[in-house]
Amino acid sequence: MHDDLTDAVIASFERSPDPRLREIMQALVRHLHALATELSLTEREWETAIRVLTDTGHITDEQRQEFVLWSDALGLSMLVDAITNRTATTATESTVLGPFWVAGSPAREYGDSIAERDAGMPAWVHGRVLDPDGDPIEHAELDVWQNGDDRLYAVQDRDAPEAHLRGRFVTRMDGSYAFLGVRPTSYPIPDDGPVGRMLAATGRHPWRPAHLHMIVSAAGYRPLTTHIFDAASDYLDSDAVFAVKPSLVREFVVHSADEAGMPPGVSGEWCSVENDIVLAPA
Ligand code: BEZ
Ligand code: FE
Repeated sequence: MHDDLTDAVIASFERSPDPRLREIMQALVRHLHALATELSLTEREWETAIRVLTDTGHITDEQRQEFVLWSDALGLSMLVDAITNRTATTATESTVLGPFWVAGSPAREYGDSIAERDAGMPAWVHGRVLDPDGDPIEHAELDVWQNGDDRLYAVQDRDAPEAHLRGRFVTRMDGSYAFLGVRPTSYPIPDDGPVGRMLAATGRHPWRPAHLHMIVSAAGYRPLTTHIFDAASDYLDSDAVFAVKPSLVREFVVHSADEAGMPPGVSGEWCSVENDIVLAPA
């Protein structure tokens, strides 16, 4: 219907010196025009969309990245993840980074606690980092972060110690790692901004199932951004950001206080989760 207009805008990028930028801009125009045409988009609706984008910019700062949240809530982050990691391998699957990773977590020793204050049931998280042949990878780094029983990551809580519930660990000679975290809790993605208003207006909930985050890296291997999901959590089948992969779900086994193998510094009920990680060669 408006083919001449669409063709003219696409042609305006023909002299772009960067061929990939030209391809991206031309495809963007083609798809945007098709969307507006399919919807018979009204001027009022387009004004509303511009206001939503403006609000998204206004709420975004160093601590809050609402554009990433849009990408997550619309499944685009997981689509880009799938495109990036589409080669079939036996490596552990990746999933979203999310907005709560903070650079410069403290280096900690094998078995250390990442909880700088009480944050829920202690969880002994352990396993090995392996190559695709099952051989151990020594000196792999695991950068881990998680929330506690108040549902918050430390960056979301002004009163929390800066290094609370995060840390960097290095694997031992046999590829093993272990740390004492807490059992994570399900939580809503930040829903007091434009993404939250979209979720409410469309009858969607903002909840994510309980999980721990980790970025695992080692020289000669592809870095892996992934989660461990708690098999007992709610929302495993309706994650607000579509990031659950069945291969990443693990049992958190609950132990009583008098059970053997209680990690140092723990009193009362605790739990454990075993999670081996396989890295793909770079
Ligand atoms: C997270 O798991 O931390 C997260 C991921 C995507 C959006 C919001 C939070
Ligand atoms: Fe998270």
